Amino acid sequence: MNVRPEMGLTFDDVLLVPKHSSIRSRSAVDTSAWLAPGIKLHIPVVAANMDTVTETRMAIAMAQQGGIGILHRFMTVSRQVECVRKVKRAENLVVKDPIMISDQATLFEARVRMADYDVSGLLVVDDDKRLVGILTSRDLLLTSDSEKVSVKSVMTPRERMIVASADETVESARERLHAQRIEKLPLVDENDHVVGLITAQDIIKVQEHPDATKDGEGRLRVGVAIGVRSDDLQRAAACVEAGADVLVVDIAHGHSDHTLGMVEKLKQRFPNVPVIAGNVAAAQGVEDLASAGADAVKVGVGAGSICITRVVTGFGVPQLTAIAECAEVGRRLGVPIIADGGIRTSGDLTKAVAAGASTVMLGSLLAGTDESPGASVVRQGRRFKVVRGMASLTANVDRRRIDRNDSIADEEWNEVVPEGVEAMVPYRGAVSDILYQMVGGLRSGMSYAGACSVEELWDKAEFIRITPAGMHESGAHDVNLV
Ligand code: XMP
Repeated sequence: MNVRPEMGLTFDDVLLVPKHSSIRSRSAVDTSAWLAPGIKLHIPVVAANMDTVTETRMAIAMAQQGGIGILHRFMTVSRQVECVRKVKRAENLVVKDPIMISDQATLFEARVRMADYDVSGLLVVDDDKRLVGILTSRDLLLTSDSEKVSVKSVMTPRERMIVASADETVESARERLHAQRIEKLPLVDENDHVVGLITAQDIIKVQEHPDATKDGEGRLRVGVAIGVRSDDLQRAAACVEAGADVLVVDIAHGHSDHTLGMVEKLKQRFPNVPVIAGNVAAAQGVEDLASAGADAVKVGVGAGSICITRVVTGFGVPQLTAIAECAEVGRRLGVPIIADGGIRTSGDLTKAVAAGASTVMLGSLLAGTDESPGASVVRQGRRFKVVRGMASLTANVDRRRIDRNDSIADEEWNEVVPEGVEAMVPYRGAVSDILYQMVGGLRSGMSYAGACSVEELWDKAEFIRITPAGMHESGAHDVNLV
């Protein structure tokens, strides 16, 4: 039997030893880290590509807070593309392609369009795409029989609108919007063709989220998960075209020929788009994925809260050892490591980063928030949300349904060998509140280590192994909690 001499450790097996610190305030530490070369996050947190965690709302919220969300792949390509578009459109100093509607359309069509794109106003254009008016949700209030009423009859016409040219600065736009008490400023060329839009909402949002994760055009960043089938190349192409900032090849056993092959193909086809690959749990996996071209590697096999891979297959590496081993290689090769799975507290987050991860991926911790997909349910007076492993029974069945765009036969349920479970997590409110607590804990942790930056934390961290008694001592104990 081939047995490694060293023991595999995870979060509860260790603590970090406090070190001399010159840090006076938690706000003095810099939590920024590289997700992948070219993409720096203000906070080292990534929302997992799970269908109970990251769709449009989560991706927007994560990027606004300085992290990033990875859109899951268990949806049609067109839906994933739509999610990418919505994130890219969510916070934009200048909207380059504002949502428009023809002046021939009905108010009913306008309502549908506003709901589809989640916008409060539409620019109205004629057949030559020239601006002829603006329609806002206020114009739609109390209108009846909206299938018969035309947009033209209720819009604010062009002659009563304030517009600006393409070279309008944000500062001047802000003044204009304020002076005229208007919310939207369309940008037009000399022929009245629409070339952009600046909205008061966007200016406010930008001020509210100074640390947001943004691309070169000031749009929020977003990642997309893809698989390794041949049609996943088309998925990747469509998402990149829509503005996706990073591709995540996400396979349970990422140290495999098909993942390596996919990474190579993606790097050939999209040399300028960072590719993250995973999941792996040992050094050789990082080595091989990096050789194939991966820009960052996701680490964690069976560590997730909803994973039963280790029980079903017998495979996995305790997460802290996996992170430390992979990070050693990652650091040597300049490949950031994303610690994926098993993080329950800010202490776990700090340990993951201290062990060498650049960022951490969170699943069930974020699944209970307002921004995760799905509604909350009340059980015995308490509010919960559902989280499920992407290899769980129902996720597997739903995936087959989506692939075929059809129902599946009853006997197919038995063909699934699940490696994940469905569960409920407590409802936790806004994702910004969770992140505040998580990152607050990391900041404190960094000050205990005397580390001003993530890189310094890697260098200064010293772990000590603890016994179950040490673990018991670490939580609240021997008191009655109120
Ligand atoms: P947490 O602990 O944050 O973990 O909820 C999230 C990570 O778990 C992984 N994941 C799975 N692993 N079976 C598994 O073995 C599954 O069904 C499954 N679904 C998600 C994934 O890496 C995620 O980011």
